[in-house]
Amino acid sequence: LEILLKGLRRLEYRGYDSSNAKSIQLIKQRGKVKALDEEIHKQQDIDLDVEFDVHLGIAHTRWATHGEPSPLNSHPHRSDKNNEFIVIHNGIITNYKDLRKFLESKGYEFESETDTETIAKLVKYMYDNRESDEINFATLVERVTQQLVSLSQAHCFCLVRSDHKLSTDHIPVMYRSCNCGALPRTDQDTCLFPVDEKAVEYYFASDASAVIEHTNRVIFLEDDDVAAVMDGRLSIHRIKRRAGDYPARAIQTLQMELQQIMKGNYSSFMQKEIFEQPESVVNTMRGRVNFDNNTVTLGGLKDHIKEIQRCRRLILIACGTSYHAGVATRQVLEELTELPVMVELASDFLDRNTPVFRDDVCFFISQSGETADSLMALRYCKERGALTVGITNTVGSSISRETDCGVHINAGPEVGVASTKAYTSQFVALIMFALLMCDDRISMQPRRREIIQGLRVLPDLIKEVLSLDDEIQKLATELYQQKSVLIMGRGYHYATCLEGALKIKEITYMHSEGILAGELKHGPLALVDKLMPVIMIIMRDHTYTKCQNALQQVVARQGRPIVICDKDDYETIKNSSRTIKVPHCVDCLQGILSVIPLQLLSFHLAVLRGYDVDCPRNLAKSVTVE
Ligand code: G6P
Repeated sequence: LEILLKGLRRLEYRGYDSSNAKSIQLIKQRGKVKALDEEIHKQQDIDLDVEFDVHLGIAHTRWATHGEPSPLNSHPHRSDKNNEFIVIHNGIITNYKDLRKFLESKGYEFESETDTETIAKLVKYMYDNRESDEINFATLVERVTQQLVSLSQAHCFCLVRSDHKLSTDHIPVMYRSCNCGALPRTDQDTCLFPVDEKAVEYYFASDASAVIEHTNRVIFLEDDDVAAVMDGRLSIHRIKRRAGDYPARAIQTLQMELQQIMKGNYSSFMQKEIFEQPESVVNTMRGRVNFDNNTVTLGGLKDHIKEIQRCRRLILIACGTSYHAGVATRQVLEELTELPVMVELASDFLDRNTPVFRDDVCFFISQSGETADSLMALRYCKERGALTVGITNTVGSSISRETDCGVHINAGPEVGVASTKAYTSQFVALIMFALLMCDDRISMQPRRREIIQGLRVLPDLIKEVLSLDDEIQKLATELYQQKSVLIMGRGYHYATCLEGALKIKEITYMHSEGILAGELKHGPLALVDKLMPVIMIIMRDHTYTKCQNALQQVVARQGRPIVICDKDDYETIKNSSRTIKVPHCVDCLQGILSVIPLQLLSFHLAVLRGYDVDCPRNLAKSVTVE
């Protein structure tokens, strides 16, 4: 039980609307895993006969799609009052209403409003109506999956059966349509709690972080795999098997360390991840950027770089913070590749049925590598023959496996729902790509050298920005009771405005808007008065004069903007009532230094407002539904 609870705590970033654990007895609770933990202990106190000595269990933490967060709607769901089949599920079953109607007509009584419950009832229905007693559990699962229509075909579930006779009849089965993540396994040498000499333990999880303290040896399930454990043996069976297609799956060794997913001395993962940035950007560049001879090597792209150089355009596709990394680097990509660059929100890109051609190169930027919208956009582009490139932080994730080539940003696991270090590492990865694209262009060499030398000093400059933490905390104490914050900038810093506003929205629940300073006079200026908190980003690049104009326009409307500026920019310092002074860096990297004060500010605002920084309400780190 402790293994399950610990695993759930590590998976909490994927949803924390409600959670539930235990094998045949069901324990459910609304809210975070802590609430479930308390509920389990309460039950133990009330009923000393409750026996928690289990050898098998399934647990789930939920991000609600169908049905409000409540104990009834939380997983597992069961086939009947005897708990014969128990299921947990990620994804959306789109035909659940029809299935439910059918099953209700057969006398099945539903307990929840979820789509998931139909799986449990359907398994029971198909099992009870089997033509032979010999039916094996994997076949049963296969038949069930044939009836399920899943949104974007992306879902996975884990099923346990109990007939209350022998322990070996408790059989867990996991089915993956896609995006279920890791299926870790331990065997004799790494088994933590052996039942006897020959014992083997298996863990099924949707993310390696849930099991990394027990094993680092994992098997990634492929689409249409059904993995089952029976009598201590794992078998993987492939539905829709084609000729020459063997379900053998290699065991992979994860590089992740337990310590990487612990908070250490920090109050939250987000704070830890903000302060890790001097190291995480180094890890992104490690072995790739040679500062002495100004070269960049990206092993994951080397076989495709010529093809990319010949392409018609680059399309960067992503969601949330990852989208902002695309916006942040678009200009330098255009400059160094001399190609048209589109930056697209995955959902909108799909909604528009955007034309994609064989000579397009499509980038999918995703921390988790599992975001459903981005994954669907990837499949859309593949179908149209475009070359696909993944920029992800998660080795083995769906996006990293399904793209033709790519770059792992190597920022280390990111747990806080509000993304921070992944953003700066995605930024650096895209810059490295831009540098690689023009490495044989003589005319570009001075610019390349300037950027590469900028990358060399970047970690120290990030440290310098982080040393402003106390000052930013003080600023937060002045702002935390406000309702709204506007963030304005342009050029390289428009992305910083969007990202800063997203951070504030996500974790402080304050209204915040990132505004392109060039658009100020076309609407947003109407919001400015002496009460509205305004943050402006003004850096000494080609937009400097225009930014100064924007500053004057805001000041003329009695606004008192807080300006993030270059520490040597005496003119801006003189004209502003308040400044946050950051070190100067090459223009296209400056966005990394201007975003960190906003990461810190959102963090302190959330703490002062009394919110859980790592688990903002209604959000999840990895959104695996469209
Ligand atoms: C969710 C998270 C965001 C993240 C976005 C994209 O909305 O809360 O922090 O930026 O998904 O995630 P990805 O893993 O694709 O970068």
